[in-house]
Amino acid sequence: MNSAALLEAQGVTLQYKTQQHLVTATYRVDFSVHKSDRFVILGPSGCGKSTLLKAVGGFLKPVEGSITLAGRPISGPGPGRMMVFQEFEQLMPWKTVLGNVAFPMRVARRLPAREARERARAALETVHLAPFADVYPHMLSGGMKMRVAIARALALEPEILLMDEPFAALDALTRRQMQQELFELWKMLGFTMLFVTHSIEEAVTLGSRILLLTAHPGQVRAELNAADLDGVDSSDPRFGKLTRRIHDLLFGAALLAAPADA
Ligand SMILES: Nc1ncnc2c1ncn2[C@@H]1O[C@H](COP(=O)(O)OP(=O)(O)O)[C@@H](O)[C@H]1O
Ligand SMILES: [Mg+2]
Repeated sequence: MNSAALLEAQGVTLQYKTQQHLVTATYRVDFSVHKSDRFVILGPSGCGKSTLLKAVGGFLKPVEGSITLAGRPISGPGPGRMMVFQEFEQLMPWKTVLGNVAFPMRVARRLPAREARERARAALETVHLAPFADVYPHMLSGGMKMRVAIARALALEPEILLMDEPFAALDALTRRQMQQELFELWKMLGFTMLFVTHSIEEAVTLGSRILLLTAHPGQVRAELNAADLDGVDSSDPRFGKLTRRIHDLLFGAALLAAPADA
């Protein structure tokens, strides 16, 4: 299946150089994301999840290994990889919902205003927010803001949607609701998503595949696939078993040897 992978990371080592230190964030990480995957990267805080997403986004180059999208090496940021950030507060409060969705199409795709607005309207329809096109973001619920942020990203027709712990700051109930809404959107639209989280429950709830990373520096510990995860939601008796198994995989065994930070 490797040849069909949309996004392929091979032996990816990522580092930060500060004045005194060399910090190794991830060490020789391999994974591949296929079209329409709900691919989750799961690991403890500081294991390099955000750093990996930055590299996929084209903001950071691997010191070792390679990342390719549809067979092409990633050489910088581009509208093919849209990042959806935490809390969706990236919506511009002085622009209407339609304006928010249209704006990046004008900037990133250089579309004329009228075409951008037409496409924005269509994108809002797909997430069932067409009636809210002319209101301002502060009038929307959290779930609606998420749908706007996703409509805005999807309007650019990205090959993959990158999400870095978008629900981390939310209370448990809202978080559940947002996960549900995201899953419904995915069922409807089938986009490819690469979702980062440190929550085992969230990974199991959302993922069609889960990559487990060890603590700092992040290395691949295991990968769980559809056969392990299919249809297991929090009401399923297998849910607890699965989360315990993942917990043991992440924290139960000695970590693999990895070079310490220089
Ligand atoms: N800009 C930076 N400069 C130096 N070190 C960094 C920087 N950003 C992150 N790190 C370090 O890289 C490691 C991985 O960080 P990060 O990718 O943010 O982890 P995660 O998202 O999994 O919590 C951590 O040890 C962190 O302290
Ligand atoms: Mg992070």
